[in-house]
Amino acid sequence: MAEAPWIIDIRGLRTAFGSHVVHDNLSLQVRKGEILTIVGGSGTGKTVLLRQILGLSRPAAGSIKVFGASVTQGSRQDLEQLRQRWGVLFQSGALFSALSVFDNIALPLRELRTLPADLIRDVVLTRLAWVGLTADDGNKRPSDLSGGMVKRVALARALALDPELVFLDEPTAGLDPTRSDEFVELIRRLHQQNGFTVVLVTHDLDTLFALSDRVAVLAERHVIVCATPQEVLEFDHPFIQTFFLGERGRRALEAEATAGSAVHGKP
Ligand SMILES: Nc1ncnc2c1ncn2[C@@H]1O[C@H](COP(=O)(O)OP(=O)(O)OP(=O)(O)O)[C@@H](O)[C@H]1O
Ligand SMILES: [Mg+2]
Repeated sequence: MAEAPWIIDIRGLRTAFGSHVVHDNLSLQVRKGEILTIVGGSGTGKTVLLRQILGLSRPAAGSIKVFGASVTQGSRQDLEQLRQRWGVLFQSGALFSALSVFDNIALPLRELRTLPADLIRDVVLTRLAWVGLTADDGNKRPSDLSGGMVKRVALARALALDPELVFLDEPTAGLDPTRSDEFVELIRRLHQQNGFTVVLVTHDLDTLFALSDRVAVLAERHVIVCATPQEVLEFDHPFIQTFFLGERGRRALEAEATAGSAVHGKP
């Protein structure tokens, strides 16, 4: 089968909860290898959109293809196969509190039911090292971790199956600026190392400017623009004015200008 031009291809999506229409005729395409960031006001349907791409929630209408296969029309088996090709960091972290860090990361590997225990152990220890944690941390319970560590473990779990596609829903929310910067650096390094595609949802402008190849803006129930951060800044829409060019936005832009685009390796 020919490789699809888009890793994710969403067309004509409609989502409604009762009379509340969240998405209407929404389209969005994600390219292989890019970091695409979705922004929009709270409640505009970013998390719902991710859940639909993941096949966890069904839209009222429209099509969603991932790796060229239909998530909306495909069978449960098709979806199971797709799930092995992506990793997800959910907005809440969503670690299992009764399981150790090690077992949380091992979970997607054990679900395959094909890998021997010693291989699972090697993979979990490698993923812990990727996110800067030790084998000792693997014995801890989620309740014993700091907020930043919970995010790291959630990222390690998202990367357990060495995915081609990674979804990160607000990965830096709740982190202090230093931890947040460290986390951004970690994602950037892993993205460069592993070459996966990233779909990121964030309200954090520092994270957005540091990582995004393209930004999709969700407003008025659809994607009003999807372009480079610079092009999005020039797009005339009240949400963009408020979101990017308010006080917080100006600070993030100034910080980005000071750091220099060459350092970040972004055009
Ligand atoms: N299962 C559901 N039943 C009814 N309404 C829902 C359901 N899931 C989401 N919604 C509604 O859909 C809208 C979009 O929710 P969503 O969680 O996607 O927002 P979001 O853009 O991720 O917001 P935030 O930035 O605060 O995380 C909200 O109005 C929410 O109340
Ligand atoms: Mg959300």
